Amino acid sequence: MEQQEKIQSPVSNEDVIVINRRSFFGVLLGIGTAGMGALLAVPVLRYVLYPLYAKSSKSTWTAIGAMDEFSDLSKPILKPLDLKQVDGWREVDSSQTVYVTKGANGGLAVLSSICPHMGCTVAWREGGDEFVCPCHGGRFAPDGKRVFGPPPRGMDTLPHKIVDGKLMVKFEYFRENVPNQEVLS
Ligand code: FES
Repeated sequence: MEQQEKIQSPVSNEDVIVINRRSFFGVLLGIGTAGMGALLAVPVLRYVLYPLYAKSSKSTWTAIGAMDEFSDLSKPILKPLDLKQVDGWREVDSSQTVYVTKGANGGLAVLSSICPHMGCTVAWREGGDEFVCPCHGGRFAPDGKRVFGPPPRGMDTLPHKIVDGKLMVKFEYFRENVPNQEVLS
């Protein structure tokens, strides 16, 4: 007589159900963990990427001298300026120079000494009665108008105001080598 051997699976139906439950909870736990991770990652990413999207803070107003100093503007007067700017995580201290001069309309004007061509420092040439840029020979009139050379525009004028008898200047940086004055920061 042929005996039929009954092959029994080592895993019972109950086991399958238990395993299925376990994998379901495992998947649920995985999703929950991934969700929590994503939630925690958002502030961390924002923190890390902040310097990339944060804009440099605008310069503040700085006093550059009493108005009496600028009563005689027979030639431009050079004034140093200490600046503090926040750029992403960094707080940057820098020094710049400006010229206080007679503007085109006869009033007072404050000019940045940064050449609008490629950023060299423009100097006032005594006797020549003009500003000269040492890098590529750009030349400017006493009121900052472009006279000669590669700079595509005149020297950049800075906002100024008078407060309590003092001349205040807001230093700004401008895009180089473009025909119009465009504020960068
Ligand atoms: S940087 Fe001034 S003329 Fe080029």
